[in-house]
Parts: sequence; structure tokens; C-alpha cells
Amino acid sequence: MTSGAKNVKVGIDSLSFFVPGAYLELEALAERHGVNPDKFEVGLGQKKIALTGFDEDVVTLAAEAALPILDAEGVEGIDTLLFATETGIDQSKAAGVYVHRLLNLSPNCRTVELKQACYSATAALQMACGYVSRNPEKKVLVVASDVSRYDLDSAAEATQGCGAVAMLVSVSPKLLTLDPVAGCFTEDIMDFWRPNYRKTPLVDGKYSTLRYLNALEQCWKDYQKNGGRAYGEFVQFCYHLPFSRMGEKGHRHLAKLANGEPNLDRCKASLVYNREVGNCYAASLYMGLASALENTEIDLTGKPIGLYSYGSGAVAEFFAAEVQPGYGDHLLKKRHKALLDDRKAVSYDTYLSLRAVPDPQDGSSVEMPRLARGRYRLAKIDKHKRHYVNASS
Ligand code: HMG
Repeated sequence: MTSGAKNVKVGIDSLSFFVPGAYLELEALAERHGVNPDKFEVGLGQKKIALTGFDEDVVTLAAEAALPILDAEGVEGIDTLLFATETGIDQSKAAGVYVHRLLNLSPNCRTVELKQACYSATAALQMACGYVSRNPEKKVLVVASDVSRYDLDSAAEATQGCGAVAMLVSVSPKLLTLDPVAGCFTEDIMDFWRPNYRKTPLVDGKYSTLRYLNALEQCWKDYQKNGGRAYGEFVQFCYHLPFSRMGEKGHRHLAKLANGEPNLDRCKASLVYNREVGNCYAASLYMGLASALENTEIDLTGKPIGLYSYGSGAVAEFFAAEVQPGYGDHLLKKRHKALLDDRKAVSYDTYLSLRAVPDPQDGSSVEMPRLARGRYRLAKIDKHKRHYVNASS
């Protein structure tokens, strides 16, 4: 195999996600907002908002998402960990460094955090593919992990969520190969942003939906110019999903641009998990990809899937992945379904209390109550340091 050769098959070898065990039914939020529940269920296409306990954050979610992959594949060959997030916990230290320890990765591993709103996981995935093409004996662990919280009683509150996705990137991947051709777009806009001093983002909601669609158009044009596949070749499309109706709007928009059939069946399977979890920012597109692979009724072997990644601010990309023979044997469908099914609804008041995550800014010590459903926990914050533990050891 030639180093850097164009015909090296690289892509996603394993795909796993994790969501916490609590959620708020959007019906309860509709009551609080004094709106018809259909506004959220039909208008946005959402049912639930996944919620973290005090001892869960982007680090614990990411470690939980990666664990089944490492249990199955081992850590051998992984020499890079790329952590994509909008909800960083430190301005300097990469959240991935904590994950690296929790997962017992090799000390001879490079670890870095990437940021560009919801787009960063796609940058990480593309970088991982480029790196593995040049170093075919190596593997890269890409994790995308986010907790989406907007201001209370804002229109955006119904589009919150959280979750993490982990992907192992390698040559000869078992699930999907990534085409080298992509279409990209960057524009300096203020549709959604979060200054360092804020816990919740500022968002110009309606404007953001228009920029999302415009960026899709620009990416598609660039993708076609670069020699991308024709619209009709794709059996499935996955879109970044701030809420599932946004994916449907994106799909109709793309079909119109490409003079194609706007058949929503080609994105329906990708929306299933998002409705149950909400926006998990950088992880959303890849939770949609897991949903498409695990909920499409037809055999996808050898078929291309179109992927659209959007991160406010804004950077976007359209690219394609081809489903590999035998992929069905390597999906974590049963585990994912169990994670989604085995959760508890909380009341609106409990949701409010879960938002009040202890944040000792004076260096005092706070022990976190045990709420996490998984084995990794943020046990305490003490002297400005976060202490993560493996509760099973
Ligand atoms: P809103 O004020 O609730 O919007 O804000 P609305 O009043 O237009 O209602 C939404 C839809 O519900 C409409 O459908 C209504 O007609 C419908 P549409 O016209 O769009 O087809 N509706 C009903 N349907 C059935 N029965 C009813 C009913 N009532 C109304 N009774 C908005 C919605 C999305 C703007 C808001 O939730 C928001 O600001 N969300 C956050 C921003 C966002 O998600 N933007 C998406 C694109 S940007 C992006 O994806 C990046 C992001 O993920 C961040 C990152 O990159 O890190 C956000």
C-alpha cells in the first residue's frame, strides 16, 4: 500500500454512541411555554431532550461512547485521539486528555480538541482519514461529545439535547469508506455563538436555519464542481440535525437544487434517534448516521450515503461514504436501542434542578451526587480541578 495513495480505502471501522439516562418530554416544555405540543412534535419533529446528571459531562459521555469500541477492538494501533466539542470544559486543556486516561490509551498517543460549533467532528473525521491514509497501520479514535443548553423559556429551548459519538477510523474499515471528494463552505456570520463568559449560546434562530440551507447549497455546488457523485446515486442522506425537521427541510432543498426526487424516505431512517435525544451538536450528524445504518430496512451494502455537516458561525461540508459488505454484523444496534429505551422521564422541576450544575469558581470543593448511568463519572471538582473516576474499578 503506497503511503498517501488515493486508492487507499479509509473510513469508519466502528460507530458507537452514548446518551445519559434522563430526559424531559417536550410535552412538559410545551405546557411551560404555553404552546400546543404539536409545535415541538410536528413543527420541530422532536419528542425528548436528553439530560445529563451533575456527574456527567462531555468527558464522561465521550468515554462511555468509546468504551464498546475499545472492548471489541482493543487499543492496539490507536495513536491519535481527536475530541470534537462545542461544550469544552477548559479553555486550555483538551477534554480528550481525561478520556485518554479513562480509556487506558497508549501514552504514545496524540490528543487534541477541535472546535467549530457542530462542524468540528467532520473536520476530525477528515483529518483522521488523511492521517490513516499516510499511516495505514495506525488508527484514530474520533469522539464528538456535546451538551446543548439554551436560555430558559427561549424559543431554542425545545432544541436542546446531549450525547456523544465515537468512531474508530482505519484502513479497510468494516462499516463505511469515505470518498476523498468533498464540498466545503465557510462564511463569517453570527447565527449562533457563545462568548467565553456565557454558559448558553446566543442564537438568531430563524436566520440560522436560512444560513444552514444556504451553506448546503454552496457545499453541494462545490461538491459537484470537485467531481462528486450525482444526487440520484445516494440511497440515504444524513444531515446535521439540530432538530429532525431541519433535516427534512435540508433534504427538500437539496433535491430542488439537484433537480432530484425530494423523497423523504431517503432521510427518514437518519432522524429516528435524534427525535429521542435532541441536538447533540458535533455528535448529531453521526448519531444520524448510526440511525440511518441501524434503521434502514434495505441492505445498504455497496451503496453511498450523502452527509451534510453544518456548524454555526459557519463552516459546512458535504461528503459521501460507501457502506461496506458485512456492515450489519458490526453495528451496535441492540446496545443503542437499549440505551434509548432504558431511560427515565423527569419532571419540569427536576429538569430545572439538573440545569443548576455546581460550578465552584472560587476553588472550593464539591462532591457530585451519583446520577450517572455509566461507569465514568465526574466525582468532584476541587481547587479548580475536575476529578473523573471509573466507578466500576
Ligand atoms: P420557533 O420560534 O419555535 O419557530 O423557533 P416557529 O414558530 O417558526 O415554529 C417552528 C415550526 O413549528 C414551524 O414550522 C411552525 O409552522 C410549526 P415551519 O414553518 O418551520 O415549517 N408549528 C406547528 N406545527 C404543528 N402544529 C402546531 C405548530 N405550531 C407551530 N401547533 C427555531 C424555531 C428552530 C428557530 C428555534 O427552536 C431555535 O432558535 N433553535 C436553535 C437554533 C437552531 O436549531 N438552528 C438550526 C440551524 S443552525 C444549526 O443547525 C447549528 C446548531 O446546531 C449549533 C452549532 O452549529 O453548534 C444550532
